[in-house]
Amino acid sequence: MVDLHCHILPEIDESTQSLSDSIRLLSLEKENGVSKIVFTPHFNFEKNHLEEFLEKRKDSYARLISSFPNTELEFSFVLSAEVAFSPKVLFNYQKLLVGNTHYLLLELPLSYFPDLINDVVFRLISNGIIPIICHVDRYRYFFQNPLLLFNLVNLGAIIQVNASPIVHDSKVRRFVSFLDRHNLFHCIASDTHSVVQRPPEIKNAYMYLRQLIGEEKTEKTKSNAELIFQGRNIRAEKPTIPVHVLTKWI
Ligand SMILES: [Fe+2]
Repeated sequence: MVDLHCHILPEIDESTQSLSDSIRLLSLEKENGVSKIVFTPHFNFEKNHLEEFLEKRKDSYARLISSFPNTELEFSFVLSAEVAFSPKVLFNYQKLLVGNTHYLLLELPLSYFPDLINDVVFRLISNGIIPIICHVDRYRYFFQNPLLLFNLVNLGAIIQVNASPIVHDSKVRRFVSFLDRHNLFHCIASDTHSVVQRPPEIKNAYMYLRQLIGEEKTEKTKSNAELIFQGRNIRAEKPTIPVHVLTKWI
């Protein structure tokens, strides 16, 4: 299985891990059946310098691999970033993609839906880049107005939901089921930050997904993550407009 989004690399961003925690997280990923991992430390155009970030990411990865020499035999790794939304991404995405693929993980602001996002997504897609909107379960505005998600998916964006909330939060499970009925849900990822706070729970999340959306669609979700990892296009169904009772999710 693939984990498309996680904070496992040691000592790189504010979700920083000690080396021993990073190694522990990799063992937990293995217990979850994950063997392909995209490392996605946070990158923010307002806070980070791109070249410094890339250097730091390279060093962090080298430290992890050298301290755990068998790791590369058990896993396939890809370097990437979770990029905080900024229009600046339009001019600087090449080195932040999921490895050598045409996918880009975008994180949105928590408290407001950014005005320019549709325009930026449109331009990225026009340039052949497919944005993956990270952990849509974290944004209240999507619960309140799923039409915002419809517009992004209709442009060609991919939607990722975090694994842990699927396991622990019934409201998120209802939301995922709702999104799935409208073809507004494509993949899950652990977004693991630490052994204690948010360990990888991909295996359990897929178990819940099977109950929520059925075996076939769950397998499709898994295969979407695999295709993204390989840099291949996923075959997403056309989204349908979510007719939605506003108070349902609040
Ligand atoms: Fe993240």
